[in-house]
Amino acid sequence: MNWEYRQPVRILFGNGMIKQLPKEIIRFGGKRGLLVTSPSFVKRGMAQQIVADAEGLLVEVFSGVSANPDVKECDACAEVLRAQQCDFVVALGGGSVMDCAKAAATICLTDEKITAYVGTGKAVPQAHLPIIAAPTTAGTGSEITSVSVLSDHERGVKAAFSSDGFYPALAIVDPELTYTVPPYMTACTGFDVICHAIEAYWGVHHQPLCDTLAVRALKLALTNLEKAYHSPNDAEAREKMAEASVTAGLAFALPKTSAPHACSYPLTNFYHIPHGEACILTMSHFMRYNAFNGAGERVDGLAQLVGFPNADALASELERMRQATGMRMDLRDLHLDGEQLERLVQASKHPNLLNNPVPVTEEFLRMMYRSMI
Ligand SMILES: NC(=O)c1ccc[n+]([C@@H]2O[C@H](COP(=O)([O-])OP(=O)(O)OC[C@H]3O[C@@H](n4cnc5c(N)ncnc54)[C@H](O)[C@@H]3O)[C@@H](O)[C@H]2O)c1
Ligand SMILES: [Zn+2]
Repeated sequence: MNWEYRQPVRILFGNGMIKQLPKEIIRFGGKRGLLVTSPSFVKRGMAQQIVADAEGLLVEVFSGVSANPDVKECDACAEVLRAQQCDFVVALGGGSVMDCAKAAATICLTDEKITAYVGTGKAVPQAHLPIIAAPTTAGTGSEITSVSVLSDHERGVKAAFSSDGFYPALAIVDPELTYTVPPYMTACTGFDVICHAIEAYWGVHHQPLCDTLAVRALKLALTNLEKAYHSPNDAEAREKMAEASVTAGLAFALPKTSAPHACSYPLTNFYHIPHGEACILTMSHFMRYNAFNGAGERVDGLAQLVGFPNADALASELERMRQATGMRMDLRDLHLDGEQLERLVQASKHPNLLNNPVPVTEEFLRMMYRSMI
């Protein structure tokens, strides 16, 4: 088996680590930074505190980033970077903020709009401003990946695109930043971690180092997600989920994700289901489908490595966890008709499906969604 592993992002991990930010900015010679964040960090005063601590090195705050950020928000962020002649970017937020900041840090050095690259397959230029990413959810792993996921709501597109220029220079993973994530969002983001780990492990591009990371991340998340959900200030559970998140990010960064992520994009785009909740909705279906259709050794093998007799038992445990954390179990409340179901089937035929260990047929997608409505 031939494989390549590389990971260019320096990672600082630990409680209170965000306090190192000013020192780290000085270390790489940053002079005029933009802090990109979501409105909730401004409301809580955290953004202002970080700017004050940076003593003039962060010249403005851009907080116009919503969940599942739109291309327009990325273009607006790039415009501020140009106007302020910034030389670096700090992204403080969940995947939405980090993805917006990563793409803006590249597009600001061009006179283009990001729409030219979202869902078009056009190669993204390599030149970019350095990025420091501090995740506040556990989470997407975006702080260490070369991927940005943006939506073009006008065109009805949500697409992941990647560039080596999107790798942050530094990831500051401070579990304390996640304490304020409400229980429902803790579950959504935690299930994203679980999907990253599983999909990295069973994906067609799996490889030994990423396998090891995936197993560790999955074990941590299976043990700690419900604890973090029930007790937001459980320091150990939050720390372990933050560790699981960055570790799962390292696990899937190269092999990429597969069928559950492919289906999550239209589920989020059409029905506003948060990313992690959308991913986990189809996970147990694909786990059984893959296990019973040719990938049994791999999928049962993963289940055994994390303490279950087989894939079916792991799928059942994920269903139990979803129920226990208030995740949707189906799509019944949406009252989808046949036409809407078909639209979902067609939109789920996303390139990530090709990473699934077993080819996913249109019939299977149709049957799966039909069982949920
Ligand atoms: N780039 C990648 O590699 C990658 C991987 C997976 C997912 N994604 C993308 O990331 C996005 C999802 O990111 P996410 O799951 O981190 O959620 P998010 O960034 O969309 O945040 C969800 C909500 O939680 C709030 N929030 C974030 N941190 C908080 C905190 N500490 N306290 C209180 N509220 C907080 C946000 O303001 C937002 O309202 C999706 O667009 C998804 O497609 C990217
Ligand atoms: Zn994800």
